[in-house]
Amino acid sequence: MKKDLEKEKQLAAKEAVKYLSDNKIIGLGTGSTIYYAIKEIAELVKNGLQIQAVPTSDKTEELAISLEIPIIDINTIDTIDITIDGADEFTKDLTLIKGGGGALLREKIVASMTKEEIIIADSSKYVEKLGKFKLPIEVIPFASKYVHSKIRDLQGEGNIRFIQNRPFLTDEGNYIIDVDFGFITNPPELSHALTGIEGVVGHGLFIDLAQKVIMVNNDDIIVFEK
Ligand code: A5P
Repeated sequence: MKKDLEKEKQLAAKEAVKYLSDNKIIGLGTGSTIYYAIKEIAELVKNGLQIQAVPTSDKTEELAISLEIPIIDINTIDTIDITIDGADEFTKDLTLIKGGGGALLREKIVASMTKEEIIIADSSKYVEKLGKFKLPIEVIPFASKYVHSKIRDLQGEGNIRFIQNRPFLTDEGNYIIDVDFGFITNPPELSHALTGIEGVVGHGLFIDLAQKVIMVNNDDIIVFEK
């Protein structure tokens, strides 16, 4: 039977919003899965749910505003109660690759400020080992050649992400290099090495940031927890 991944995304989103309650600050992730959660949250807000939301990208912010979800400036708060976000890959220890949509930097900042980070995913996102999905690395344009060569020293093969013949620019005005490291056997070690390269402002390995992954496989809801 062919899987309906859109339906799995929708079911995961419906399940995740059950964790929301009044007077909470909610982080809103970015991507095609979180889209469904934002729609669900907008319905709940219409029906009286009192929350304030911190978007992780301009795109999410526009969507949230268009759906009349109240927004709060991240620089006026210290913590975020719950964030719902997606992932490109995750393993059962809740290590993630994120950034397919290019929002990894703000997503990681929001995740770092969040008490409970809930990831929602269709069944295609679960992997035994990370690395089939190329790891997005955000670099300042000035350093892109230098970072490229340092990535090669780490046995990574990467390309600057292009959209319509131009380098893709993140919300912070940076480039993304999508890098094939093969299977990533030691995510903390790679994360540490990448963070040490001047010009890298972020990367899509999320380690010890998610508390829960809600994955839907056909009609089954599977919750991975720490
Ligand atoms: C955005 O930068 C990403 O981190 C997304 O959360 C991730 O790519 C998942 O996106 P989809 O839900 O569209 O698969």
